[in-house]
Amino acid sequence: MLEKIQNLIDEVKALHAKNAEEAESLRIKYLSKKGSISALFDDFKQVQPELKREVGKKLNELKTLATDRINELKESFAQQQNASTGVDLSLPGTSYVCGGRHPLSIVKNDIIEIFSRLGFTVAEGPEVEDDWHVFTALNFPLEHPARDMQDTFFINTNPDLLLRTHTSSVQVRMMEKQRPPIRAVFPGRVFRNEAISARAHCIFHQVEGLYIAKNVSFADLKQTLSYFAKEMFGADTQIRLRPSYFPFTEPSAEMDVSCSLCGGKGCGVCKGTGWLEILGCGMVDPAVLEANGIDSKEYSGFAFGMGVERIAMLRYQVKDIRLFFENDVRFLQQFKSAY
Ligand code: PHE
Repeated sequence: MLEKIQNLIDEVKALHAKNAEEAESLRIKYLSKKGSISALFDDFKQVQPELKREVGKKLNELKTLATDRINELKESFAQQQNASTGVDLSLPGTSYVCGGRHPLSIVKNDIIEIFSRLGFTVAEGPEVEDDWHVFTALNFPLEHPARDMQDTFFINTNPDLLLRTHTSSVQVRMMEKQRPPIRAVFPGRVFRNEAISARAHCIFHQVEGLYIAKNVSFADLKQTLSYFAKEMFGADTQIRLRPSYFPFTEPSAEMDVSCSLCGGKGCGVCKGTGWLEILGCGMVDPAVLEANGIDSKEYSGFAFGMGVERIAMLRYQVKDIRLFFENDVRFLQQFKSAY
């Protein structure tokens, strides 16, 4: 037995292979379950007890030697292959960059989420609209300046079609298809023919809100918007409603929130006033309800509309609105963990 082992040791020491396949067949010949070394381990059971120690030692020596030698052969072929293909399979892979949400989507989703807690559903309308949904049904007089070419992008081939200038058009679409009670928000992209600057863009986003039911009052509007402001900008946030004018609401107001940066004391962002304007709102004008087939004696409602860019600029201290549309990854990367 010892002699047999010694012969195999000599044999294994001299092993050679021309390629990876040959090395593998050597492994099978010596080390597989039916291989010659494994066979010796079977024979080992018959060895006389007093010899077991010596034979066992030798047998283990053979096995280690064979394993090492065959692995060595195999590795040499693997390295040769790397060298010939130029690929080192042992290198770590290149990591790829994961995308993140756009800051405007983060803010839009937050706005929707806050209103959904109050039972508001979400609806959308078309970006290419007709005059009725954007202006006429919303009580815009024919000579209103918003209808002007200066403000509105019209579609050349059809003067009745235009790019919506506000998401209030979706109020009309909602009233057409659903009877009160209505409680919904409408996020979307809007277009205005404005010179592009750090503060204005010809494309931006709004979230509109509409609530129509019996006995809806201005107090409901104020409480809803106060809740929104505190959820969005922090529990200490105060709101201020200033009288304003929109053709489709009466009375109308613009809402300011206390500047979260200086806590209302006055700073560069709020231009020393302590207040930041974030939205327009008001009670739905009875004429709008009637134009959309809703009995204004039975129902009342409120509406509001806010600019998503404006809120994102305040929240993230972005000084130039154009950054939102340039898709510069250095800018966008900063918002990766923000959702
Ligand atoms: N549509 C108005 C705007 O774009 C905002 C608004 C919406 C005002 C709803 C009142 C009610 O400025």
